[in-house]
Amino acid sequence: MNKMNRIILGDNLQILANMPSASVELIYIDPPFNTGKRQSRPQLKTIRDDKGDRTGFGGRRYRTEVIDHPASDGYIDVFDDFVGFLRPRIAEAHRILTPTGSLFFHIDYREVHYCKIMLDEIFGRNSFQNEIIWAYDYGARSTKRWPAKHDNILWYTKDSDHYTFNLDASDRIPYMAPSLVGEEKAARGKTPTDVWWHTIVSPTGKEKTGYATQKPLGILERIVRVHSNSGDTVLDFFAGSGTAGEAAAAHNRHFILIDQNPAAIAIMQKRLKDFSPHTESHPD
Ligand SMILES: C[S@@+](CC[C@H](N)C(=O)[O-])C[C@H]1O[C@@H](n2cnc3c(N)ncnc32)[C@H](O)[C@@H]1O
Repeated sequence: MNKMNRIILGDNLQILANMPSASVELIYIDPPFNTGKRQSRPQLKTIRDDKGDRTGFGGRRYRTEVIDHPASDGYIDVFDDFVGFLRPRIAEAHRILTPTGSLFFHIDYREVHYCKIMLDEIFGRNSFQNEIIWAYDYGARSTKRWPAKHDNILWYTKDSDHYTFNLDASDRIPYMAPSLVGEEKAARGKTPTDVWWHTIVSPTGKEKTGYATQKPLGILERIVRVHSNSGDTVLDFFAGSGTAGEAAAAHNRHFILIDQNPAAIAIMQKRLKDFSPHTESHPD
């Protein structure tokens, strides 16, 4: 596969199945957390049509149609389906990773334990390296239990012992008690632990793209800098607004971004236009 920046519209499973093995150093994914929501959202189907308004592989024309999904029968069914939906995609991700490559799997407290078991089965428990807690503090606060203000990011490596981990390339964070460590150390800051405090994307800030589930660039930049090298390829197959692509390109990596939602593709094209991405459409 050519090393170029790519944005691909379509269901990620078929696209992943066509990608070569051992070709990507870093995969970050942030799948929809709640399959109930995913199923209730209108989905689009791409259909071959000579009069269609979209051009795909080989110059063929397509049109899109909205298809309705049946409402879910309940939480348990939805949940079972979620791990079943992810499993074949994670198996492809494992195949596509280079021998020193990493997968970052972004999820929340409701699903993380079930997903970890599935990830352990595919990668092997020894290849699980960290559970990163992204902690933030924003929005309503429950008074019935502790407000949940974190996401979970599971880090797996293709090989349990040999993998890219450039800790020196990480940004540094302030000491909590700088007066105790001396001026020089305090000015330099320290490397992060597995708990990452970072604000959410501000609803009024410059970073905001308008995509509802956009993740902060700072989180993705740390992952890209430490877990890949210049010239590597970064893949996000639930790409949304393309945060992983921006982090990759800002640090001289290539990106492959896949999403099935045409609105996400439009946002990514606009956001990443300076990096000359090649946009493709993958029919169902
Ligand atoms: C939580 S969002 C990702 C947000 C992204 N990390 C960002 O910073 O903007 C999940 C995305 O997965 C996409 N998605 C869901 N199922 C998919 C599938 N089967 N193939 C490709 N994309 C899919 C959705 O359209 C949505 O944009």
